[in-house]
Amino acid sequence: MSDSRQIVMIVGSNRPGSSSKRIADLLIPVYASYGETLKVLDLSELPQNMFLPTAYAEKPEELKRFTDSVLESKGLLVLTPEYNGSMSGVLKYFIDMLPFPESFEHRPVAFIGVAAGIWGGLRAVEHLQGVFGYRNAFIYPNRIFLARVFEHFKDMEKFQSGLEYQLIKDQARGFSAFCDAIVAMKHKLS
Ligand SMILES: Cc1cc2nc3c(=O)[nH]c(=O)nc-3n(C[C@H](O)[C@H](O)[C@H](O)COP(=O)(O)O)c2cc1C
Repeated sequence: MSDSRQIVMIVGSNRPGSSSKRIADLLIPVYASYGETLKVLDLSELPQNMFLPTAYAEKPEELKRFTDSVLESKGLLVLTPEYNGSMSGVLKYFIDMLPFPESFEHRPVAFIGVAAGIWGGLRAVEHLQGVFGYRNAFIYPNRIFLARVFEHFKDMEKFQSGLEYQLIKDQARGFSAFCDAIVAMKHKLS
């Protein structure tokens, strides 16, 4: 059973000129080629008042479009930069601001790590797997680690004919099917 709801891509950096955002732009046509229209949540667009201590108790109205997108999604694709051997602070804070438990409970999730260094965001992805596992998400097992990301931007043609890009395409195709399989399972059990 296919599902008309969207896969939501969370871009886990709010840094101006973010590499994660550049990779996110590349993923949109890849998913489109498998019939999926990605909805992008760019954390650089989060409302400023979300960072006030009062936001834990009173969620800012402007956060609602982010929250609703997560709750209405059929799956989440999390694009995470590696910051100090983990996910970015803004990504973890965004996760902490989402409603519990319905945001991630039994929701499919896939991960792509993006890093300047040689480990490609492995640690960030593994930390996120811990968080999403704790929250009972269905984690798609094929993860992607984009190491030395600035090298890829020097020659995009080479990148798009290389191994990492093929892995991105394989993950997109597989994750789309994974989301639909979980929708079908939930339908069967309802
Ligand atoms: C605060 C901060 C910490 C970082 N820590 C790491 C790190 O631990 N390992 C690494 O490979 N790159 C690290 N980087 C570089 C990022 O991986 C790089 O900026 C990459 O482009 C992904 O982040 P971006 O989407 O914000 O651009 C760090 C960058 C910042 C701004």
